[in-house]
Amino acid sequence: METTEIPLEKLNPTQFIEKQTQHIKKQVGDHKAINALSGGVDSSTVTLLGHKALNSQLTTYLIDNGIMRQNEPQHITNLFKKIGVPVQLIDARAEFMKALKGVTDPEEKREAITQTFYRDIFSQLIKKSKAKYLLQGTIYTDIEETLAGVKRQHNVLEQLGINTQETYGYKIIEPLIQLRKPAVRKIAETLGLPQEIYDRPPFPGPALAARIIGEVTAEKIDTIRKATFIVEETLENTNAFQYMAILHEDKVTGIRGGKRDYGNQIEIRCWDSLDAKTGTPTQLPHEILFKLADRITTEVKGVVSVTYNITCKPPSTIEAV
Ligand code: XMP
Repeated sequence: METTEIPLEKLNPTQFIEKQTQHIKKQVGDHKAINALSGGVDSSTVTLLGHKALNSQLTTYLIDNGIMRQNEPQHITNLFKKIGVPVQLIDARAEFMKALKGVTDPEEKREAITQTFYRDIFSQLIKKSKAKYLLQGTIYTDIEETLAGVKRQHNVLEQLGINTQETYGYKIIEPLIQLRKPAVRKIAETLGLPQEIYDRPPFPGPALAARIIGEVTAEKIDTIRKATFIVEETLENTNAFQYMAILHEDKVTGIRGGKRDYGNQIEIRCWDSLDAKTGTPTQLPHEILFKLADRITTEVKGVVSVTYNITCKPPSTIEAV
């Protein structure tokens, strides 16, 4: 597979869709394939491309890893059913919690998630469905940062020299590998996906685990899920590239009802960016920032401090983990 970038201005969406559909058909032949849908623009685009090419030869799964956002697994499954794509919801919450237990280092956390997806869950689904191929939505930016050693993106394997056939028992097809996010959005729109999907801010494969500093526990997931909901609801009309809440490991002293309250800190990040390669914090009005702090400290149990990150990428990265 070619890994030269196709820049947005050189992209012909109709031709790209036709070429990739033919390529997928040719590679899969008479065999079966599976793919995992998360509801993000990349995996949604691959799901539609895959179904266009393979119809019933492709089975789409949504893996509930327990670290997705509020109501996300159900909402995405229903949305795709409405547009005619059947999705099988897989409950893998226990497997991911087990793999994440006791893991604090960011790269080890990413590795635990990668292995649970590819070695445990996908291998089982490949056996169950008798498929030979996994279609996935790796994009150009994912491999770029992984190869530069900045961050191991959860879905980068073959570019790191991992032979997935030998290691996991299946081959991977990556139709979007030459595109960056704006180009993927164009393909998603051309394929007829709803705006809710093609305009969705990026969300990382390691999901809410990428938003928790230190060990991922059920209680921390609950905290970050609630804070994420508030941040997304408040900032969705800002036109920012991406926005998020991050739960810190260190606690700080707060005061509630005149008494000491030693509690959690939430950091908010909101990015202006074209393709996540570089980024600048959005100049949000103080009014919005105060509203966020007020809602998070009122509605999310145990949070006594909310901060706004004012660092550019580089030297920051978009996600904290
Ligand atoms: P960073 O944090 O590296 O993020 O500046 C760049 C963009 O990539 C997203 N991201 C990921 N996406 N798997 C993904 O699918 C990952 O492991 C991953 N890590 C970061 C991040 O949200 C941002 O848009």
